[in-house]
Amino acid sequence: MLSVIIIDPQDVAHTVAAEEGQSLMVIAKSAGLPIRGNCGGQMACATCHVIVSTSWFAALPPASKGEEKLLDIVPSAKETSRLACQIRMRAELNGLTVRIPPRRRRLQAE
Ligand code: FES
Repeated sequence: MLSVIIIDPQDVAHTVAAEEGQSLMVIAKSAGLPIRGNCGGQMACATCHVIVSTSWFAALPPASKGEEKLLDIVPSAKETSRLACQIRMRAELNGLTVRIPPRRRRLQAE
């Protein structure tokens, strides 16, 4: 069994079990962590945005052009940002560490 470390927006680290081939978005959602994944992994929403730990970023396969394009419109994106639905677990990623950034608050109508 593989595992990933997912740091939630409150800075709490969760060690979560993962299976080979599962997407990181599904792993995080199954663990009840606050990641939305609105499009179900179709790379159409960016609500599965995560920031990968700098020490793990190079271990991931490069993002596709489509993923990069979507990340370009995410306000909180960083250099090591990825879409969790595009990361598939494999043995080499055992211990992968990512952060779920805080959601932007909506302006409240008065
Ligand atoms: Fe929509 Fe990843 S779940 S882009």
